[in-house]
Amino acid sequence: EGVRVKVPASTANLGPGFDTLGMALSLYAWIEMKPAEKTVFHLYGDQMAGIPLDKSNLIYEVAQSVFREAGVMVPELEISMYSDIPLTRGLGSSASAIVGALFAANCLIGSPLDESRLFDMATALEGHPDNVGASLFGGIITAVWDGSHAEYLRIEPPTELDVLVAIPDFQLSTAKAREVLPEAVSLRDAVYNVSRTSLLQAALASNRLDLIPFAMQDRLHQPYRSSLIPGMARILEEATAHGALGVALSGAGPTLLALVDRRKQTEATLEQFLLGVLNEQGIVAEMLWLK
Ligand code: HSE
Repeated sequence: EGVRVKVPASTANLGPGFDTLGMALSLYAWIEMKPAEKTVFHLYGDQMAGIPLDKSNLIYEVAQSVFREAGVMVPELEISMYSDIPLTRGLGSSASAIVGALFAANCLIGSPLDESRLFDMATALEGHPDNVGASLFGGIITAVWDGSHAEYLRIEPPTELDVLVAIPDFQLSTAKAREVLPEAVSLRDAVYNVSRTSLLQAALASNRLDLIPFAMQDRLHQPYRSSLIPGMARILEEATAHGALGVALSGAGPTLLALVDRRKQTEATLEQFLLGVLNEQGIVAEMLWLK
């Protein structure tokens, strides 16, 4: 009678693909939902402090939006959630909650809404399609959002691609990390990003990991955000010399993401470098190898 969904974390942008590229990561949240006499929440895990336990809860509200859209009434729900995805660190925790809630609610009533509709609803809630697209479809996605409809193409990540994330022990809200961005950018910077985003996506789609070092730089958001993450500028500049194919701010940060060619066996060197730079800035960071 109830449903349970497992939703991946995600990283947005991959450097140049601001609000466009997303990749699912092997770190998960689980949401269970069933009809109930009276709405009740069970939240498990360290990530749950401060999350509301009444009908202002995001998962509850998102579920109700699915029921409204489908024209059915399920006013009272029993909702359980467990998450390994750290909050407000640039790993798509809010996107995973939105996608999990949409998907679970839709399943609960026999899946009247198709995935494309769920994607539109998720993007409208999140404001951009990159994290929610990756959480909903998995893999690596390129997404376009016109303000009411989102389209995407999904590719399978190259098998030799590994992902290292360095998760600093401080939170950074997406709102704050978007406030520092300029209203307008130069044509030169726009071209810089268009070319790299295109090359990155084409390289990932055709297993050309050797091209990634030429494709992960960005001039649209990272230069403005780097003041919010001590050590980031140096990491972006030097990590390829320490074994990364490329590094980027994960979403709006503060997590930093490195792509690695598994065949090169540079894991230990790279991990040490990232940790060293962050520690020098007084930042404690958790290092995780994800797919
Ligand atoms: N593309 C978004 C950003 C992802 O960089 O602001 C963060 O939620």
